[in-house]
Parts: sequence; structure tokens; C-alpha cells
Amino acid sequence: MSGNQVSLLLVGIGGYGSTYVKQLLNEPDLAEAVIAGIVDIHPERSNHYEMLKSMNIPFYPSMESFYAEKKADLAVISTPIQFHCEQTCLALANGSHVLCEKPIAATIQEVRRMMEARDRAGKFVAIGYNLSYTAQIQQLKRDIASGLFGKPKRLKSIVLWRRTDDYFSSGWKGRRKSDKGEWILDSVAHNATSHYLHNMFYVLGARTDASLMPDSVEAELYRVNPIENFDTCAVKAIGEDGVELYFYATHAVQDNFGPSFCFEFDKATITYTSGQHADRIDAVFHDGTVKGYEPQQSTKLLTCIEAAAVGGTDIPCGLEAAYAQVLCMNGMLESMPKVKEFPAGLVRRDEEVRSFWVDGLREALLDSYHRWALPSDLGFEWAAKGDIVRMAGYEAYTG
Ligand SMILES: NC(=O)c1ccc[n+]([C@@H]2O[C@H](COP(=O)([O-])OP(=O)(O)OC[C@H]3O[C@@H](n4cnc5c(N)ncnc54)[C@H](O)[C@@H]3O)[C@@H](O)[C@H]2O)c1
Repeated sequence: MSGNQVSLLLVGIGGYGSTYVKQLLNEPDLAEAVIAGIVDIHPERSNHYEMLKSMNIPFYPSMESFYAEKKADLAVISTPIQFHCEQTCLALANGSHVLCEKPIAATIQEVRRMMEARDRAGKFVAIGYNLSYTAQIQQLKRDIASGLFGKPKRLKSIVLWRRTDDYFSSGWKGRRKSDKGEWILDSVAHNATSHYLHNMFYVLGARTDASLMPDSVEAELYRVNPIENFDTCAVKAIGEDGVELYFYATHAVQDNFGPSFCFEFDKATITYTSGQHADRIDAVFHDGTVKGYEPQQSTKLLTCIEAAAVGGTDIPCGLEAAYAQVLCMNGMLESMPKVKEFPAGLVRRDEEVRSFWVDGLREALLDSYHRWALPSDLGFEWAAKGDIVRMAGYEAYTG
């Protein structure tokens, strides 16, 4: 660390935000950061509430009330998606750098507002994609950019993660809009598994804080849960230079699989499957040599605190780098505006854990993944084709 003390405002400490609180309370590396205040509409629901109160850390019901009294070098925002844009802009206008949780926001027009607010403020906005703050992904990204593997041809990622009724009952998960009419657009691809959609664009970006942009997006969106948006998707995006990206994700399975990915380049194939090969990413060259990338801890919070300590500097994953995921997700909704329900005959219910799943879906998505295909290409009876949406000149998601 630089030796400068960094004051933090934590916004949202109940869900994922509790991870930041835990780190700040326990990790000596972060000792130079002080919590100047906490904003949460229900702070008492946090496991750390009593501890934080006993430390005399002040709580505020809104960011406005915090900034009326105090300042912070860095605002750490871990609230539901519909608040990311407003809260980031407010923090910037009050002189804070920002670490905002992923995804950036619901729509690309909000991302543009955030970029403008950042440029006006002269501060940084980091987006909390954990992997992008690991030495493992940074080394891989540098090797890709240096041309070590040759040109990228096609990339695919799959994440099959069950989610229960509890998950969807939080009031915003699976919703398109809030009661006040703000876009949320929460979905399997825009929340839990967004890391792996983002990661494909991110590793192909030519600079640290850059990603490949999708030129076109074709998506199939499905659901089994009683939600407004989708819990299952299969996506084909084409990026600059014709590189193909395939993404498969669902919450409607009984048994989890992944994340797993396979990136094909001219000279090598890069693979990863969670829980296999000690979580190493392996690049296997066509001549049989292997370069392995060992798993590393994400340094997300520490990186942002250190950047704030020196008044802002390059951060690995800012708004430009995380933009491709939002653009792709908006394109997915344009590709298939009406989410398709799975046929009732395939819907299964696990009453013990209180979750829905779809008979045969796990196998169908794995089959599609292995064959670099969309479910509709393989003729699954529940599958439907989305439009191919060109993203060049795409200005705004308006529903
Ligand atoms: N990086 C990761 O691995 C990771 C993991 C999980 C969630 N997340 C992200 O974290 C964000 C929050 O998700 P979550 O699952 O923790 O949500 P959550 O609903 O479980 O928790 C949100 C917290 O924000 C508070 N809150 C709600 N509205 C607020 C407002 N207007 N102002 C201040 N506080 C408010 C709530 O009281 C709660 O404490 C999302 O963007 C999500 O994608 C990231």
C-alpha cells in the first residue's frame, strides 16, 4: 500500500456486500482502509451489523445523507442492479472513486451515462468481475494479446447452476423492471453467470481495460421459474474479425455443472473446468506443449483501495471492459423479446430444496456446448430460434 489512508463508503452490505465487510474486518492487507460510513436500507439484516455498530461506524439510509455529512475516497456499491447507475453517478459527483458490483447496469444507455459522469469527475469506476482481478486471467489475457496462441477462432463457456425459490424471492432477481419502472433486466446471464459471459469478451480485449465487442448476437431465452425474465439461455455472438462466442447458462437443473470453457485459437486450445486439474486453466498448443495458469485469489477490493490511495490509476476492469457484457445482454433481449416457457410436460419440481428444473435440459445444453451449436440447431422440441441482431450503431435498450 502507498501509506495513504483510504476512506470507504459501503453501499449495500446485506448480500454480496457482506464479503467486502468481512474482508475489511479480517484482512491485514486492507488495514489502511477505514470505513467512513455505510448506506443500506436494511442494515440490521447484515450478519455484521452488531459488530459494525460496536465499532461506531455510522449508518445512513441513503447516499445523499452520507455525503451531506462526509466524504469518501472510494464508494463500494453492492446493491441490486437497478441502483448501480444512479448510485455510481452520485458517488462520482461527490468526489469518490467507485467499485461497483457486476453487472455494470441494466442497459447500455445507463453505462454511457456512467462513463460521462466518470469523465466529468476524473475518478475511476471499477466493475466487480472477480476473475478480471486475478493474476491467472491477467496473464492469460496478456498472452492472448501478445499473439502467443495465434488468432482466436471460437470460444464457448457453460455454467449450469441450480437456484431455488429463495433466490428468486429477493424482490428483484429475475425481474425486468422495478415497481417504479426502472430497468433491472436481471437474469441468469446478467447476474450469477455473467462472470463467464464477460470473461470471453474480456480475455480477447487488446488492452487491459478493454474487451472484444460483439458485432452480432443471436440468443435463445427460456424459463421455468415464475419470473419476468429468463433463467436459461444459449447465445451465439460474433465479434470483431469473425470470432464466434457461444454461451450456455441455466438455473433450471438439479445437478450443477461448470463453469467450464474452451477457447480455440490458431495455435492452441485453452480449457478450464471448475474442480478439475486443480482449477488450472490449460493452454494446449497443437505441438502438444502445455502452458498452465494456476488459480489465484481475486484482488478486487485491494486493487481498488490501492488505486484510490494514489488518486486513481489504471484499473483492470472498468466501464469500457465490462461494457461488452451489457451490450451482449441487451442484444440477447432484442434477439428473443418474448422468453419461451419450457413445456409443462418437462417441468420437474424438487420440493426438498424448493426448486424447479427441466427434464433433459442439462444434457441438451451440454450437447449443444460440445457441438458448438444452439439448442434450436439440434432440434430439441422446446427450442426456438432468436433473430440475429446487429449491434453496430445500437443506441439503447428500450424494451
Ligand atoms: N462479484 C460477485 O461474485 C457477486 C456475487 C453475488 C452478487 N453480486 C452482485 O452484487 C449486487 C447485489 O446482489 P446481492 O445478491 O447481494 O443482492 P441482495 O438483494 O442480496 O443485497 C442487496 C443489499 O443492498 C441493500 N439495498 C437494496 N437497495 C438499496 C438501496 N437503494 N440503497 C442502499 N442499499 C440497498 C439491501 O438491503 C441488501 O443489503 C448485484 O449487482 C449482484 O450481481 C456479485
